[in-house]
Amino acid sequence: MQINQLTCSIGAELTGVSLADVARDDSLYAEIKALLLKHRVLFFRDQDITREDHVAFARRFGDLEDHPVNNTVPGYPGLIEIYKSEKRDHFENTYHSDASWRPSPPKGAVLRCISCPDVGGDTIWVNMVEAYKHLPEEIKQKISHLRAKHGIEHSFGAIMSTEEREELVRKHPLVDHPVVRTHPETGEKILYVTPFSTHFINYHTPENVRFGQDKTPGASLLLNYLLSQAAIPEYQVRFRWRPNSVAIWDNAATQHYAVSDYWPAPRRMERATIMGDRPF
Ligand SMILES: [Fe+2]
Repeated sequence: MQINQLTCSIGAELTGVSLADVARDDSLYAEIKALLLKHRVLFFRDQDITREDHVAFARRFGDLEDHPVNNTVPGYPGLIEIYKSEKRDHFENTYHSDASWRPSPPKGAVLRCISCPDVGGDTIWVNMVEAYKHLPEEIKQKISHLRAKHGIEHSFGAIMSTEEREELVRKHPLVDHPVVRTHPETGEKILYVTPFSTHFINYHTPENVRFGQDKTPGASLLLNYLLSQAAIPEYQVRFRWRPNSVAIWDNAATQHYAVSDYWPAPRRMERATIMGDRPF
């Protein structure tokens, strides 16, 4: 297996390995797992594997989960369809960590390209450990104990009817997570606000707020500043898909952005999502 690091910050492409073999080989799996923790996202080309192989590879890392809005591939629990058509159905063009609206968001995901346009539809990943590390010291202090609410309502729910949206929120109520989370395996600190974050829940304290209206510029500007860090190219890698390309990412340590520049061309991706633990 050859390892080709793609940027100084994040991402490596591995060649000379079949993911079907990793599913069956303990030492190969251990090697891939260590590389994932180091590089945050790993890329593989020409993985002419079956859906069973895709699921089996992802299952090495943990149990899989479906999605309340995306369809599951029929017959393959834990494998969801991310199929884009000529409909205006491109929603992943924002920096985000998957499903931070869950009490225990996924620890990772394995995305495989079934078909894609010749050009367009790249995905960008961001190293949010680096994003935290380079924050100004005063910001690190200010956010060290902050917690933010995360919800599904204003993103996936936005195009639903009021009744559908209320049902979605009943099933997936707002959760709160630390703004700076600790990586469960490496102990690294990670900047953890996403577009699913709605507001800080413990900002309104005497140190931050003299009068009620202080919290609006204070808290919302701070949240937007933190969200903007994912857009810094020094923390990023950009990947161009081909059919049978696969990416696996650490969903705690990274965010990603699916560039939606290819409409109305179709693009079909399938994702196995690996369950994670409650952020701390
Ligand atoms: Fe995503």
